Amino acid sequence: MLITSQFKEKFGQTPAFIARAPGRLEFIGNHLDYNGGPVLGAAIDRYVTVAIGPRTDDRIVLVSDAQEVRVEIALSAVVPLSGDVSWGNYPLGMLKVMCDAGMPVEKGFNLLVTNDLPIGAGLSSSAAIELATGYALSALYHYPVNRKQMAIFGRAAENTFVGMPCGILDQGCSAFGQAGSLVLIDCTKNEFSNRAMPDGTHFWVFNTHKKHALIDSFYATRNKECMEATAILQKKNPELANLASATEAELEAAKENLGAERYKRALHVVRETARVRDTLAALAAGGPVRIGKNLTASHESSRDLFENSCEELDFLVAHVTKMPGVFGARLSGGGFGGAVMALTDGSFTAESAKQLVADYAGKFGNAPSIFHAKTGAGAGLL
Ligand code: GLA
Repeated sequence: MLITSQFKEKFGQTPAFIARAPGRLEFIGNHLDYNGGPVLGAAIDRYVTVAIGPRTDDRIVLVSDAQEVRVEIALSAVVPLSGDVSWGNYPLGMLKVMCDAGMPVEKGFNLLVTNDLPIGAGLSSSAAIELATGYALSALYHYPVNRKQMAIFGRAAENTFVGMPCGILDQGCSAFGQAGSLVLIDCTKNEFSNRAMPDGTHFWVFNTHKKHALIDSFYATRNKECMEATAILQKKNPELANLASATEAELEAAKENLGAERYKRALHVVRETARVRDTLAALAAGGPVRIGKNLTASHESSRDLFENSCEELDFLVAHVTKMPGVFGARLSGGGFGGAVMALTDGSFTAESAKQLVADYAGKFGNAPSIFHAKTGAGAGLL
């Protein structure tokens, strides 16, 4: 394997273990994970692969084929990094969380990270680094971890070490993905299961390469608005477990207390939850047309209510959904840039999208990259 020779070249040793974890597409359930809703995603067959080898000292050395700067740190000094070594926070966060959970680590390690996932495309390369590192560490330090716990560790690494208040969608999809399947996550119970993709459907991803400079703080702001809305609703209804369990009637009754912004965010969450449930029913009935309508409605709700879309994403969704063979399309992931995902039948090809790409480039000056994403296997050792 290529990574074995790369590892030997960088570290002068043969890797002890190789692990990989896929990127993900958010199918539907936008910003529902940290609100306790159901979400549907998929692992794609693009991976972060890591190779690990033991060291005899207490150093941790991280090298990535996508990053110029290597990270070197002592085991006893693992803290979140900033600047051009901050990419190391994903593997280091995983190490920290697993050590805190009881993983016995006495000596350091060398880790090489390789990536065939487009970075910054909204396909969650960060969760993939976390999960791949998690499996490599668990093998090296003889610390068995099941899939569910690995996804929970990955989210904890983001929340407590990287400082991103995300839910479990990305890590859950990367852990539980299966070729030909969607991953369903009940985010209240952290329950994971798979649902077959509707027959004859395909994913096409349009990456805008746009990443809002404030993307992380926008995400955190939305999270905060949702938590505030939940707290306001819980004053009236202490039984309310989370925002995804609220009803539209409850929101109406609390409209004044919520204020215009929080009301819109909450309405998105409540309606998106209904769309996920309807999509699950449509999946059971084999109805891609109905599913596609939910996908596009989800995007419109992101655009109008959750306000986590942008002009480029709106343009792509508006145009691609008019094309033959397209069931529906939506922004996939946190939003404020990133990628649009379209669900199509087999007649849609890159050729079909040529005019769309040209029109987009005419308006925005750069072409989106297009990629036919196939569902892939979940994370694990190779
Ligand atoms: C990002 C986060 C996920 C989820 C989505 C939005 O991908 O990492 O936890 O909140 O945004 O649904």
